[in-house]
Amino acid sequence: MKSEYIIGIESSCDETSIAILKDNEVILSNVISSQIETHQKYGGVMPEIASRLHVENIGYVLNTALKEANIDSTLISAVAVCGGPGLIGGLQIGMICAKTLAMFYNVPLIYVHHLAGHIYANEFAKSMTFPLLAVVVSGGNSELVIMRDHLDFNIIGETQDDAIGESFDKVARMLDLPYPGGVSIDKLCKDHTKAVIDLPKPKVDGYNLSYSGIKSCLARMISKLKEEGKLDSEKVEEIACSAEHAFVDQLLSKIKKAAKDYAVKQIIVGGGVSANSYLRSKIQEEFNDKYDIVLPPLWCTTDNALMIAKVGHYMLKKGYISSYSACSKANLSLEKYYKDLASNEGGNDK
Ligand code: KG4
Repeated sequence: MKSEYIIGIESSCDETSIAILKDNEVILSNVISSQIETHQKYGGVMPEIASRLHVENIGYVLNTALKEANIDSTLISAVAVCGGPGLIGGLQIGMICAKTLAMFYNVPLIYVHHLAGHIYANEFAKSMTFPLLAVVVSGGNSELVIMRDHLDFNIIGETQDDAIGESFDKVARMLDLPYPGGVSIDKLCKDHTKAVIDLPKPKVDGYNLSYSGIKSCLARMISKLKEEGKLDSEKVEEIACSAEHAFVDQLLSKIKKAAKDYAVKQIIVGGGVSANSYLRSKIQEEFNDKYDIVLPPLWCTTDNALMIAKVGHYMLKKGYISSYSACSKANLSLEKYYKDLASNEGGNDK
């Protein structure tokens, strides 16, 4: 049987990444150029600087990915690109690269949703078993998604205000911890005995989430401590750990309810916050006896093109091919996008 080779491209935020995946399993290359050091100076991602760096880096990243994979380019089966959501400048640079390659190799162009990529990152650990609950926790999203089949996404709950990653970042910035804040807080909070501050427990309907109340309470507490000159390293650690527990515990309670109500077999977690060590250990501890828990490998929790190539494999199998007139989109609903593709309504080409 002829092998399948998919080129994946990801450039939706501050990583420029190109990967080549063979037969949905063999990783031939996964090159990631991270811009974190540049954005750290500003305490967050600066979109215009991110776009410029994608332009500067994408040629090198592509060359390196092709060289590492060392395959005959006539074997390439498809080019899968993250079309959205994300920062529009970066997305467009990835899209231009993808369209050029797809035209040059005369192969299908596949337009992948970024969050589908984060969900499918789990397949580098273990295959999906349906029905499953996918927990998407990233810088811009916090969503609970039920999947009954491949590429069938049903969002049952989402944040009503800030995303969990954004909340980690904001609290870290208030505590003068470096960007990305979630990483700094995770590093600081290895000792979980420091989560001693009682924080509000938001009352949100169903499987929805809310983080702004906890964040506002912390903002008031931190600014008062700063005014009084009492924000010492001990207090920083206590606040960071208490925030981490409050953010994650709320998520765990919603996971518990959703997994039971939807009688899922598997729980998977995706997005940058899935790297959080407290979340990873608690999810195993609390749910391992009832459900198959799958966590993405740590290397696959940050943005990367392999996860895009992985989704590309399943989309190619279903014939979800995009036209060359497809446009990147800063905002794109995961559920609607794939439902439109399934019902032949054209998804992004509409
Ligand atoms: O998935 P991602 O790269 O961004 C989006 O696609 O939106 O996730 C980035 C987010 C940031 O908010 C970062 O602080 C958070 O993931 N993050 C973490 C950890 N590693 C990254 N949050 C908590 N603990 C971590 N270990």
